[in-house]
Amino acid sequence: MENKDVIGQWSEAARYWEKHRAVIERMFAPVAAALVQDAGIGPGQAVLDVATGPGEPALSIAGVVGAKGSVTGVDVVPAMIDAAGREAGRRGLGNARFRVAAAGELPFEDESFDAVVSRFGVMFFPSPLEGIREMLRVLKPGGKLAMAVWHHARNNPFHSVLSEIVERFVESRAPDADAPDAFRFAPPGKLLHVALEAGVADARERLLEFSIDAPLSLDGFWVLRTEMSDKLRTKLAQLSQGQVGEIKHAFREAARVYSDESGLSFPAEVLVVSGSSNARLVGHTGFEPVTSTL
Ligand SMILES: C[S@@+](CC[C@H](N)C(=O)[O-])C[C@H]1O[C@@H](n2cnc3c(N)ncnc32)[C@H](O)[C@@H]1O
Repeated sequence: MENKDVIGQWSEAARYWEKHRAVIERMFAPVAAALVQDAGIGPGQAVLDVATGPGEPALSIAGVVGAKGSVTGVDVVPAMIDAAGREAGRRGLGNARFRVAAAGELPFEDESFDAVVSRFGVMFFPSPLEGIREMLRVLKPGGKLAMAVWHHARNNPFHSVLSEIVERFVESRAPDADAPDAFRFAPPGKLLHVALEAGVADARERLLEFSIDAPLSLDGFWVLRTEMSDKLRTKLAQLSQGQVGEIKHAFREAARVYSDESGLSFPAEVLVVSGSSNARLVGHTGFEPVTSTL
């Protein structure tokens, strides 16, 4: 898939991600916390969030770095950046700014940031290798980066409980393993390998097991999932009202096991790849990244 398709899909998704902002922030808060931890983010730092969408984890990080620090969020989709800016304004955040930019061409000087993070972004880049190289370029020497990607859908009922039912109605070809897709980096080691190739020093991967908690009814969750996911929206639009009704019924039955009076709670698995820029002087040619080993 070309990046322009990715941009089109996320432009369409922006209003739904903004609409469901509060629930999305809560559901994925454990992933934001893992990125803050693995990127070593603390008060006073300058942090970059690549593919910030409508502002996460940047908006949460604004609270971690405090008034003496700053956070910059970039996304390739202008509607996402508008949504992020609106929320920063509503919260009165003086230390958060947002800018339209593609991961492969970050509009920042070399060595501008103490830490770089990206949550559920790198899988959609046209070239994850170039994106990670750009993250390294804008990191100060020794600065850390951390990226979160989904583990397999079968380990994430948040995705699979509905998508498996929809697939019974709309046939879909498995995407090319290297095409932009939510599960492009689901195989353990795959993103780590790209990080190493890009020159990330001390690169490592960990499996984050957590629970996605959504304070929603089954019907509320149906609305959230079908609006958040471009794939689901596109597939459901091809079906008759009767078929959509059948899917919704099957979904309610399948998801009931994850629901109680406080809402829904899904076991979830994400891979977090992190490391540092660790640039060092090499001869008279300038800075070159240290090559790291597993
Ligand atoms: C799943 S959303 C994640 C949003 C946010 N980080 C979060 O976790 O809530 C993926 C985001 O990646 C952005 N994106 C896709 N390709 C990109 C690229 N090449 N450069 C920058 N952002 C990109 C999309 O516009 C979208 O906002």
